[in-house]
Amino acid sequence: EKGGYEHFMLKEIFEQPKSIKDCLRGRVISEQAHLALGGIRQYLNKLVNADRIIILGCGTSWHAGLVAEYIFEEFARIPVEVEYASEFRYRNPIIKEGDVVIAISQSGETADTLAAIELAKAKGAIIFGVCNVVGSSIARASHEGAYLHAGPEIGVASTKAFTAQVTVLTMMAIIVGHRRGTIKESLFHQLLVDLENLPVKVEKALKTNEQIKYISSIFKDARNFLYLGRGANFPVALEGALKLKEISYIHAEGYPAAEMKHGPIALIDEEMPVMVIATKDQTYEKIVSNIQEVRARKGKVIAIVTEGDKQIEAMADFVIEVPGTHEFLMPIISVVPLQLLSYHIAVMRGCNVDQPRNLAKSVTVE
Ligand code: F6R
Repeated sequence: EKGGYEHFMLKEIFEQPKSIKDCLRGRVISEQAHLALGGIRQYLNKLVNADRIIILGCGTSWHAGLVAEYIFEEFARIPVEVEYASEFRYRNPIIKEGDVVIAISQSGETADTLAAIELAKAKGAIIFGVCNVVGSSIARASHEGAYLHAGPEIGVASTKAFTAQVTVLTMMAIIVGHRRGTIKESLFHQLLVDLENLPVKVEKALKTNEQIKYISSIFKDARNFLYLGRGANFPVALEGALKLKEISYIHAEGYPAAEMKHGPIALIDEEMPVMVIATKDQTYEKIVSNIQEVRARKGKVIAIVTEGDKQIEAMADFVIEVPGTHEFLMPIISVVPLQLLSYHIAVMRGCNVDQPRNLAKSVTVE
């Protein structure tokens, strides 16, 4: 059942080219300029005309929501708020009739997320569910939605669900942006091609596995890790840190790279590995300066860069090269080496990768 892999987590990481392809199947056909989500029809206009969108989730699903905030605001120009379901539900949230909520949940059974959408529904919001498990409670409680089609995720640490969540949310944002006229026809076509190319690029990102195994052997005894990213890669820093914490029990924090100087920089010394997601985008030069700041304090820099990058190669202790794509699709590729790093470090530390201590696959209690 693990398909020859030692753990479900590794199997699921390596399945991503396929799970993303399954997620895109029938929904994107660039040659026909076709992009549609069959599960979102009746209420699509509500989404297109929304004054704002509220995204709810927990854990990794919340991180996917944060990525979606960047994507929706860029492509659809609709303000987005991303909320932890557990905070949202207990603070008398302001929701008006016709507000739109997107609830993200792999299992579709997370108690806080379910309760949050019931609350929003009672106040008149339209709920779109983004779930993996078909027929799950959150899927049933939503007005409409789109399934991930990523296949069962068994490992407690979410991997292929995250990349499929971001893929579905990206499709939603492009559909809405196209309808609203906030993305030009040429960009629309380019994005469809970029979506179709994702599986091949993720496959290439998986080729970093051996290199990451080596890097893992060097840092497996670290007591702390810092993860930095900017823009759409900032939530990827949070996700990388969460993966490391939950399966290897190493303390890790994710930060927007520019926030480092407002506090966390005090932590940096020769003992501190700093994982920087530094792929080519609008803030590339800024992140290069952030790397220099880490180096100046003797921190160890591991950088995820776009293939062919020479500038960072000359500065970082280790560079991990991944294929480039549109900067807002980059999280789907840049997260892969981080999943692998947490996996290998956890295995080397003798941790139970598929069943980390104190955690359950779906959190049906609040
Ligand atoms: C992290 C992880 C958890 C879940 C969270 C939400 O790897 O798996 O943080 O993402 O419990 O679960 P779902 O998506 O099922 O609502």
